[in-house]
Amino acid sequence: MSDKSSNQMWGGRFAAGPDAIMEAINASIGFDKRMATQDIAGSRAHAAMLAHAGIITDSDADAIREGLLTVLSEIEGGTFEFSTALEDIHMNVEARLKEVIGEPAGRLHTGRSRNDQVATDFKLWVRDQIDATIGGIDALIGALLAQAEAGAEWVMPGFTHLQTAQPVTWGHHMMAYVEMFARDKSRFVDARRRMNECPLGAAALAGTSFPIDRHMTAEALGFDRPSANSLDAVSDRDFALEFLAAASICAMHLSRMAEELVIWSSAQFRFVTLSDRFSTGSSIMPQKKNPDAAELIRAKIGRIFGANTALLMVMKGLPLAYSKDMQEDKEQVFDAADNIMLALAAMEGMVKDMTANRESLEAAAGSGFSTATDLADWLVRALNMPFRDAHHVTGSLVAKAESRGCDLPDLSLADMQSVHEHITEDVFGVLGVHNSVASRVSYGGTAPSQVRAQVARWKDAL
Ligand code: ARG
Repeated sequence: MSDKSSNQMWGGRFAAGPDAIMEAINASIGFDKRMATQDIAGSRAHAAMLAHAGIITDSDADAIREGLLTVLSEIEGGTFEFSTALEDIHMNVEARLKEVIGEPAGRLHTGRSRNDQVATDFKLWVRDQIDATIGGIDALIGALLAQAEAGAEWVMPGFTHLQTAQPVTWGHHMMAYVEMFARDKSRFVDARRRMNECPLGAAALAGTSFPIDRHMTAEALGFDRPSANSLDAVSDRDFALEFLAAASICAMHLSRMAEELVIWSSAQFRFVTLSDRFSTGSSIMPQKKNPDAAELIRAKIGRIFGANTALLMVMKGLPLAYSKDMQEDKEQVFDAADNIMLALAAMEGMVKDMTANRESLEAAAGSGFSTATDLADWLVRALNMPFRDAHHVTGSLVAKAESRGCDLPDLSLADMQSVHEHITEDVFGVLGVHNSVASRVSYGGTAPSQVRAQVARWKDAL
């Protein structure tokens, strides 16, 4: 045995223990204790396999299994004493196991290393988090579908450049977000499928001479197969990066939606009213009701995208195989995971609770010459005009309305005919916003009939 002050797990060749600063920079237990459940699951699978392969005895495996359950209950019960001197969750668990069961604990680490152990634990953790995130996305999609269904035919302005473009339906706008979040979900699903190979048994970097059964441990831990290259297995953090990339894109979508809610809930727009449950007041201005949750969601992209960038930077210069740099992966992922979950839940809550102000939406839908395209299309259809000419004629009509200080439907037929003599009374039929949206029945268009079809399709799919 080594000097008492050197590390009990690896201190054999050391005469002295680490400097306090060394311990501070080296230890990860402060954060990687979040992987305790995964660590113990990995160890249980490994011990069972070692016994099955005849590498340790059944009675040692039994003792290890029982002991690990004791350690797990101590951790879950909050009585476990984490030690910084023991660096990380792997050595904390193993050291406690030794106190609980004695000698057999020392046999657990046969044919494995902390390098494959940490890769396995972290993958299990990320995999669980992907499942949780998918649940959060599903809940948000559910809230959006409910809004879309309720307001399939409510009209509102559609924007490009944040300038009034054409009327759209509320349901259509909500369903745009359903498409985005459904793509986000599929990115998490893809990442999960790709990452589901088990690193355990890659050992330090080269595999092991013990007759281990990697297929057995992979299966026990719910992986599709063991990873095929031991060097890659211990040095791969693609799964964490893919999680962060998928989370970044999802956070970007959340942020765009949050921005719309901030704009829509303003006194100038009044498109939506956020519930009291998802708003805050001002300590000085009594009239204020602020969309803080939306603003914070909008800001979350910063730290999530930052985590993605930070981990890419950590990984980009690392030679094969494991380097301690990789210990920096966890805090980034933990923070991003917590915040994407929080942002999804807050958005779901806001969407569920918010009230669309139909009258404001409808009034805004008709302003800003939003049916100019409908007028041009009418000229094409009714007068067989080439679209380019129709565009020009419509432009003149818009200019006329603008000079009168009115909207297109407020122009008289005589005004219209002064721009183009063949325009008839029929034109007024297409200038209403309800007719406008109802006419856009092309696949994926804004017509209520299309929106209802899309709502039904997504409800089926989910
Ligand atoms: N705490 C380490 C990490 O998070 C575990 C692996 C340590 N391996 C080693 N050879 N020092 O990456």
